Amino acid sequence: MPLDTTSYAIPVARSVADLRAVVATWRKEGLSVALVPTMGALHAGHLSLVDLGLTRADRVIVSIFVNPSQFAPHEDLDAYPRTEQADAEKLTGKAHLIFAPNAAEMYPAGFSTTVSLTGVTEPLEGEFRPTHFAGVATVVTKLMLQAMPDIALFGEKDWQQLQVITRMTADLNIPVEIVGGPIMREDDGLAMSSRNVYLTSAERQVAGKLNIILRDAAARVSSGTPIEEAMSDARKRILSEGFSSIDYLEIRHAATLAPFEAGHPDGPARILVATKLGRTRLIDNMPLA
Ligand code: PAJ
Repeated sequence: MPLDTTSYAIPVARSVADLRAVVATWRKEGLSVALVPTMGALHAGHLSLVDLGLTRADRVIVSIFVNPSQFAPHEDLDAYPRTEQADAEKLTGKAHLIFAPNAAEMYPAGFSTTVSLTGVTEPLEGEFRPTHFAGVATVVTKLMLQAMPDIALFGEKDWQQLQVITRMTADLNIPVEIVGGPIMREDDGLAMSSRNVYLTSAERQVAGKLNIILRDAAARVSSGTPIEEAMSDARKRILSEGFSSIDYLEIRHAATLAPFEAGHPDGPARILVATKLGRTRLIDNMPLA
């Protein structure tokens, strides 16, 4: 497959060989390389990681791959938005290369390897999406070994994912620096997400409340309210605003995601939530002051 330089104003590598050939030319020129892994349907959150990458490296690659192995059979793999042309337009003049392999390139016949972690993958998302992080860890390991960037950037929007990738990269001695970027939000506080397009306009009105409730709950715990009391009040508020259900709402140790036993944080803490609003699953998180 030749490097695609004609479909869009930004070149697209669709094979690992083409990706590596482009990176090799950059390396010959002594240029540093950043990788921003995505599943496409790009929004300002993704683009903020590209901007951050540009401050840290000479060249930025954005991978676009809707990774089947991180979706459970009942999840939204088929419905997940695929908008390659719009994505390419957003990246033009910003990033230097799109890597957009198909499933056969990433998972050829006979593919048999899974990267899985214990510990940080187990609570929260791990309880509700038990196969998810093995899919993420496997594809991110592959992307890093395919591109061999100096740094790879991930959003704090998926806080647990960022901790999983940081742990895995250290454990496997992958020589890539993992860099986290802040959460980009809509004006009402809703964390930007490719899945927000699933929200009806009525749901979209409600969605922004999640961030406000989260902020209030975090502030209460920071000023001494016991964790369980603040979480229980916030859960009631979320449901009374019209969210359909809550998968979890927890205050956890920021890096390990272990619970605090004493009722109050005794180390760096993060509040994390996953809720459903109609058919749409929303996640959000923030640090405690
Ligand atoms: P995706 O959901 O497309 O997100 C790609 C990257 O953008 C992730 O690092 C995510 O945390 C970040 N991101 C998403 N919304 C953001 C926001 N509002 N503000 C800042 N960053 C945001 O996460 C994945 O894809 C996949 O699991 C992937 C890592 C690509 C592996 O398949």
